[in-house]
Amino acid sequence: MDTQQVVLHMNHGTGDNSYANNSIIQKKVMREAKGIVEESIKRLYTIIPVHCFKVADLGCSSGPNALQLVSNVMDIVDTTTSNLNLKPPVFQFFLNDLYGNDFNSIFKSLPKFLESLEEKKGHKLGPCFINATPGTFYRRLFPNDSLHFVHSSFSLHWLSQAPKKVVNKENIHLTSTSPPGMHKAYLEQFQKDFKVFLKLRSQEVVAGGGMVLTLFGRDKTRDIRTVWTIIGTILNDMVLENLIEATKLESFNLPLYDPTIEEARKVIEKEGSFSLQRLEAVIMGWDANINEGVDENNKLDLNMRSQFITKQHRAALEPLLKAQFGENVMDKLFLRFKTKVVQLMEEKNLEFPTLLVSLIKNA
Ligand SMILES: C[S@@+](CC[C@H](N)C(=O)[O-])C[C@H]1O[C@@H](n2cnc3c(N)ncnc32)[C@H](O)[C@@H]1O
Repeated sequence: MDTQQVVLHMNHGTGDNSYANNSIIQKKVMREAKGIVEESIKRLYTIIPVHCFKVADLGCSSGPNALQLVSNVMDIVDTTTSNLNLKPPVFQFFLNDLYGNDFNSIFKSLPKFLESLEEKKGHKLGPCFINATPGTFYRRLFPNDSLHFVHSSFSLHWLSQAPKKVVNKENIHLTSTSPPGMHKAYLEQFQKDFKVFLKLRSQEVVAGGGMVLTLFGRDKTRDIRTVWTIIGTILNDMVLENLIEATKLESFNLPLYDPTIEEARKVIEKEGSFSLQRLEAVIMGWDANINEGVDENNKLDLNMRSQFITKQHRAALEPLLKAQFGENVMDKLFLRFKTKVVQLMEEKNLEFPTLLVSLIKNA
């Protein structure tokens, strides 16, 4: 098995650097997409008779976001069935992520979650079965025609692998100075992976079923790749200081790609199994949603904002970086990252586009 399928995961548990405690930006992305999810499910209810509503969340990770889709969908279906005077369905949710994901944390949080659902909804809603489906979404995960709705939030920018045969000695991703051949190699890997993803899901989703996807995007004015450039520069400095072996940096590239709207559209249209309902970008700050749960009057300085940004990135990138460069350099790496982000924030507004995609499976 490809090692990425085991090594790639977000930081486990509920500690200070865990994904559970550092995924507020992704929570905001889910909130941005909620209206589109609602639109897709409402449409579905008008065309398909649903007795057991089967929903998959691909790349669910762990922490509060992993169950957010479940409550969002139940809220939407509750309102939709009440408005249409229909009996609420039975729900079956499939939470998918790679094998190294912290599924145990999700399972442990289920009793409390289900209890709170029951308190909120009473017995008005149908029974809700929550299953885990470990494995890569670049392979088949479900039987033919078995899903009504597929959701994937902030996961599809992860490629199945970094492009092979790319010589990128001093960096870990594309930078503004990367040669065109490297851009081409990353784009081709994205095109190949996204096409496979769509083809596989088209076999699993019923005709007329819906799919809502969100992922890192790219446009000319805002560049999320700055994050990967900063990390690459810091790792390169660490090589020069003999803290990291040069060969480790030379052999590592991040398996991530942030497509433009046009790049994503071309793959969807060429693959052809889904009709495009929406494809748009929302722009968010690197510290989006930082004020969630914080007193509005509590002014956050650059240092606090940079600390927030660093922890969010550490929670997502540390397992992969640790496996390549060693645990002992992680604190140093992210301390330097934090300092660099403060400097950058003094110079400019740090923002990135997120792509929101809504699709319908063709008959
Ligand atoms: C940034 S997290 C997003 C988690 C959650 N959906 C959220 O919005 O907070 C991305 C997740 O995608 C998962 N992932 C990446 N590649 C995957 C693949 N090929 N198959 C399944 N999950 C994958 C990662 O393991 C990670 O948990």
